[in-house]
Amino acid sequence: WRNMPETALVPGLIARAGARAATMIEAGPGVARKASPVSYPEPAAADTGTLAGVAEGVRACRRCPLHAPATQAVPGEGPADTRVMVVAEQPGDAEDLAGRPLIGPAGRVFDEALKRVGLERSGLYVTNAVKHFKFAPRGKRRLHVRPGAGEAAHCRWWLDREIDLLRPRLIVAMGATAVAAITGHGDGVTRLRGSIIPLADGMSMLVTVHPAYMLRLTGQEEKRRAWQDFLADLGLVRPFLAGPAATAER
Ligand code: URA
Repeated sequence: WRNMPETALVPGLIARAGARAATMIEAGPGVARKASPVSYPEPAAADTGTLAGVAEGVRACRRCPLHAPATQAVPGEGPADTRVMVVAEQPGDAEDLAGRPLIGPAGRVFDEALKRVGLERSGLYVTNAVKHFKFAPRGKRRLHVRPGAGEAAHCRWWLDREIDLLRPRLIVAMGATAVAAITGHGDGVTRLRGSIIPLADGMSMLVTVHPAYMLRLTGQEEKRRAWQDFLADLGLVRPFLAGPAATAER
């Protein structure tokens, strides 16, 4: 027990168990994935039978204007047989340049949190709700701009392909854009965070904050609490890593 990093989380988990259970009861069962709010044609050339094909399709995607100023699209990455998929918001400056998800400052927060709860990033599939960087140029810098509902809706087609191929038992939705991409509305991240919410087809969603949230906080105590809560949320992931892929109920 002394050598297990997650042991440190146990007192906090016990202390917040009542509140978490109440939130889950309040959320109710089955926040099913909603139908996409817009319809759009399937990209003609995309091979959607494999993750590699989907990644190729993402790189070639021209379905919304975000592709034009971006350096490149950033597909998801991770093993095809994982049971846990992590969805963040959109690539940032570093990801846009490297073509890989969550490797910049927010990614470093995420990696540190994974380490603290004893999870290997190589065992997770990590992707974004929106695959191109949206930014506003400010001199030499490119400032992050939150993607709009239309851009997220267009990109949802790719997220759906990733979900269909992976059939994850758990989707970790980090922040409102990710929650909205999965459920159709991004309200209530604060209320729902730390809850395991059943989705359609035997999948579940764990809502948590986006790791960049931790970077924005300035108060020591606020930061400490946010970090502790983020670790507690990620501490719920491990049981989902084992077992069969999620299957649709027929
Ligand atoms: N980088 C990503 O890949 N996703 C985010 O949401 C933020 C930074």
